[in-house]
This record gives sequence, C-alpha cells and structure tokens, in this order.
Amino acid sequence: MFLHGTSTINAKGHLEIGGCDTVELKEKYGTPLYIVDEALVRQRSREYVEAFKQSGLSFQVAYASKAFCTLAMCRLAEEEGLSLDVVSEGELYTALQAGFPVERIHFHGNNKTPDEIQMAITAGIGCFVVDNFTEIHLLNTIAVENGVKVNVLLRVTPGVEAHTHEYISTGQTDSKFGFDIGNGSAFEAVKLSSGQSHLNLLGVHSHIGSQIFEVEGFQMAVERVAAFAKSVKEQIGVVFQVVNLGGGFGIRYMEGDTPLQVAEYVKAITDGVKQHFAGAYDKLPEIWVEPGRSIVGDAGTTLYTVGTSKDIPGVRKYVAVDGGMTDNPRPALYESKYEAMLANRGRDEAEETVSIAGKCCESGDMLIWDLELPKVSSGDLLAVSCTGAYNYAMASNYNRIRRPAVVFVKDGSSDLVVKRESLDDIVANDLIPERIQKQPSFK
Ligand SMILES: Cc1ncc(COP(=O)(O)O)c(C=O)c1O
Repeated sequence: MFLHGTSTINAKGHLEIGGCDTVELKEKYGTPLYIVDEALVRQRSREYVEAFKQSGLSFQVAYASKAFCTLAMCRLAEEEGLSLDVVSEGELYTALQAGFPVERIHFHGNNKTPDEIQMAITAGIGCFVVDNFTEIHLLNTIAVENGVKVNVLLRVTPGVEAHTHEYISTGQTDSKFGFDIGNGSAFEAVKLSSGQSHLNLLGVHSHIGSQIFEVEGFQMAVERVAAFAKSVKEQIGVVFQVVNLGGGFGIRYMEGDTPLQVAEYVKAITDGVKQHFAGAYDKLPEIWVEPGRSIVGDAGTTLYTVGTSKDIPGVRKYVAVDGGMTDNPRPALYESKYEAMLANRGRDEAEETVSIAGKCCESGDMLIWDLELPKVSSGDLLAVSCTGAYNYAMASNYNRIRRPAVVFVKDGSSDLVVKRESLDDIVANDLIPERIQKQPSFK
C-alpha cells in the first residue's frame, strides 16, 4: 500500500499514522475506525492557500464540506483560513455549531427548502450559490420578508464535463444542476437575478466534475466562463466580481494514479483567468474554488478487524471485515478502487490474493477485489487508505450497523472527534404506536 502523509511502518512493524500506532488505536477506540491525519489535512489546505497567494489574485478556498463534515473538521478549515461550502441545513448547522465565520459560508444545492434559506439568512451567511429560476424568485421573496439583501452566485454549466483522464465537451443541457450557458438560460438568469430588489449578484460558479487528473478541463471552463462574462458585460453591463471554479481536483487512491500537485491545478486556473479576462475586465474577478476530496481524501484511513474468511478453491478467497458498505459505500456505488494493508503486520510479505468483503447482507458489499496480502488471519487489522472523503460523509446504518468513530491523529496524540454510535443511538428515534405496544403482564 502506498503510504500517505505521516503514515509509516514503525519498529514493531505496525502502521503508524500521525505518530500513533494503529494497533494501539484499535485497543483504545475499537474498529471500524476512521483515522484522520490532521497534519496532512492542514498541509493540503495550505497548498491551496499558498498557490493562490502566489497568483496575486484575490481568492477564497472554500472547503467542500460534503466530503467530510464534522465540528472538528470545520474548526480545522477555519484555522487554515478556508471558507466553507455547505449544501444542506445539516452541514450549515454543523458549521454554525463549530463557530465557523458565517460570512465565509457558501450555500449550495439544487433544491434548498424555504426553511433552509431562512436558516441561512438568519445566520447571515456569505453567499448563496443559486441553481435554478425557482430559487431566484424564492430567495428574493424570503430576502424581502427578512429585509436583507443577499449575495448570490449563479451556478452555470459551461459545457465541459471532466472525469479523471477524460474531459469531454458537451452541451450538458441535460444536468440537474445550474443554468446552461449554451442554451441561453445562464444569460436569462443573470438578467433576472440582477434585476431582483434583494439579490446582490456577485458572479458565477462552475463545477465540471470530480477526481480530475488534468488541467485541460479547468482551462476550457475558465475560457468559456470568461467568454460568457464578456458577453454579459457587453450586452447588459453586468460585471462579475467573483468567479467560482468549483472542486474536483484529483487525488492518489491507487499507487498508479497520477494526479497533479495542488499548485499545478491552481496555476492553470489563475493563469487562465488572467489570460481570458484580460482586456474585457479592468479588474480581474476574485477567484473561488471548492476542493473537498483533495483536502481530506488521502488524510483518511479506515481500520477494520478481520473476521471470517471463505476460500472457494480455484475461484477466490473472501476475507470479511467488521465494516463494509455502511462505512464506505463508494466501491458499491462507483466501483471505486482502494489500497489496503495489514496494519498489525506492515512488514510481512504478500503471500495470497484475497477479496475484502463487508459484513452487510448484500452481495455487492465488497470493499476491494483481488488484494495482495500476507496470509490473513482472523483478528488481523486491515487498513484501507484514502478514505477521508465521502466515506464518513456517506456512511449509513444499513442492517442497523452502528456508524464508526472518527479520530484525529497528530504528533503522537489521538483525539476522538466523532463518537462511535451506540446501540441506543440505533433505536433513539424509533417509536412504537400505542396500539401495538407490548402490554405489561401485571397492572
Ligand atoms: C458544486 C461542487 N463543488 C465542489 C465539490 C467538491 O468536489 P471534490 O470533492 O471532488 O473536490 C462538488 C462535489 O460533488 C460539487 O458538486
């Protein structure tokens, strides 16, 4: 397994992260356990901030909290000078409870409810990223009722879609998100929103995809957004002060993955802005980005205890762990690939090929196919790397499995940042209607 951040194999042959021995973490917190390498989260955050400072442009790096949203993570984001992108009342509530500066919170989503909008306005958040025409009217109405003017970006689809190595230029009219530049709806949205009494149109937002390994998609997006900005300025005199270019910067899940350095993505974007906005704009817009995965993804490791195994001669050997699709649904959802190692036997040579199964009642609950490992025994610890993004965030209670704990590790200390769910948590919201309640035997 490729070792990320502060991960190393210690003198006992155990995987150590943030100076903490994972075998000891298992003793202290149990498994499954999400382990977050705090230093690596901070390092990634700083890489973005530094790269933007180098560009000389005004900027905000908004951590896309959908990747991993907890109180402690919001605190780290604030300490590192990041802004925050939220997409629901739950993420917003978490940020507010963490005391995150409201003016640096951006509210996304294609179907914000009136209650969510009201909550965000009451909190005084920095900006709404508006997704559709219904929302323009709804947001203005609620802003009028509250007697406030709210900052707005319009989410536009620039006709570029990018995934890892492939970036394709598409009409992209058929997307649930945003206003299409190509079919004119983005232009209509600018006209409509800039005329609303209680909306302050700051600019536009574009997000072209995820786990992107090359800069071409971002360069194309910048070029198209700049062309759109110029035509809007020429035709109706509206000037964008802010251009948000979304997230999607790729990370190294597998040893063979070849993402770019954070600085390379940022340079491609900022150079593109300088090139394409020059001439038409006297003052370059402020640039925002929204990295999620690339802030927390490779900082996360999930630790499991190996339980049963099933060897089908000539076919494969299944090795089951004490978690699965409930703590990491990505392999089942997207066929995502992960690397793993035995955390308690980090120096042992690989001896067998096994497939790692989860414990859920679902054949598709497989975490890793065909993994090379030392001869695995019940009780061994399996560490799956790069699980910091969209794992805890997407965890479920399928089969009424309890969601794992999360610990931050740094400089030899570990801190619990999310408690393991208890069995009482599992039934905490359940109610039994009186008519089917069990009657006491004696009165
Ligand atoms: C609008 C928007 N911004 C940012 C992100 C974060 O993307 P990533 O975690 O790939 O950086 C997403 C991911 O879905 C998104 O939809």
